[in-house]
Amino acid sequence: MSTPTKTFMQHLFQQRHAGLIERDLTTLLHSVATACKAIANHLKNGDLGDAMGALESENVQGETQKKLDVIANDIFLERCQYSGVLAGMVSEEMEDIHQIPKNLPKGRYVILFDPLDGSSNIDVDVSVGSIFSIFELPEVPEKLTIEDVLRKGVEQVAAGYAIYGPSTMLVLSTGHGVNAFTFDGSIGEFRQTHEDLKIPADTSEIAINASRRRHWDESLRNYVDDSFAGEAGTRGRDFNMRWIASMVAEVHRIMMRGGIFIYPVDDKNRAEGGKLRLLYEASPMGFLVEQAGGAASTGTERILEVDPTGLHQRVGVVLGSANEVACALKVS
Ligand code: AHG
Ligand code: MN
Ligand code: MN
Repeated sequence: MSTPTKTFMQHLFQQRHAGLIERDLTTLLHSVATACKAIANHLKNGDLGDAMGALESENVQGETQKKLDVIANDIFLERCQYSGVLAGMVSEEMEDIHQIPKNLPKGRYVILFDPLDGSSNIDVDVSVGSIFSIFELPEVPEKLTIEDVLRKGVEQVAAGYAIYGPSTMLVLSTGHGVNAFTFDGSIGEFRQTHEDLKIPADTSEIAINASRRRHWDESLRNYVDDSFAGEAGTRGRDFNMRWIASMVAEVHRIMMRGGIFIYPVDDKNRAEGGKLRLLYEASPMGFLVEQAGGAASTGTERILEVDPTGLHQRVGVVLGSANEVACALKVS
């Protein structure tokens, strides 16, 4: 009889028994996995359910909220705040820190998350995801402050994402490589399907929203033009292009087969610092990519070294196959 694949929880127990993670982190990650399963369940019914479409409301970044942005946020809050191990939570969909209600036990962990990434893709049935970043405080705070959560990405104790695509997957790093788990609906659990993922250093796939070309810095235009000049150009070979408009889906492709993903600071978003949010998009993805042997930069510095100044701060993002990121940064 063949050995059944490890479940997500068995993986966490193994890491805990090996002394790699603490028991409270196991508890939190179990809550996160449960939240992701509940979100996947909402998504799978599509227009048959009552969860599709936009709301009247805007989030703190002035973006129209989709019903599912709010549903996914509520699911994360509900599933994680009962874990008893959290000091508080930060979300793309909430302006301020979410404090753990007084009647619930607290702990030393902080989770920062994008409950639904790529939400413009929901209504067209293209992959979306959830992204999370986890820090550990030295002690349980009375009230979680902004200073407590403005931490450099290098301090993360875990980061991951769920992708809701043809299958639902959970991709996790606790700082000991990257492992991926696929949802097995027959037992209602994630089971390990990928061990110690490694991103190839070289690639021929570039992901960038080329409709913004006219806003790019000259050096970025040169890098992209050189890459797409094909055999006749300075790079001497063909490159392919991808753009899904779900960061989770782009990073997942890079995790599976390599590539580079660029959302640069350009003339149109320079005043805001870029498009993607540091604490719950760039930083956790940077952690995962580095854990898989790739590179992650804002365009000027390592994402994990950025000293955060605000909960919803934005940065440029250049991440993926190490040699390609180096090439893009050299030109730009
Ligand atoms: P979110 O849905 O959480 O607001 O994030 C969307 C982000 C990211 O996932 C994606 O890479 C990017 O926005 C797409 O931007 P464009 O619409 O400019 O292509
Ligand atoms: Mn997002
Ligand atoms: Mn989002």
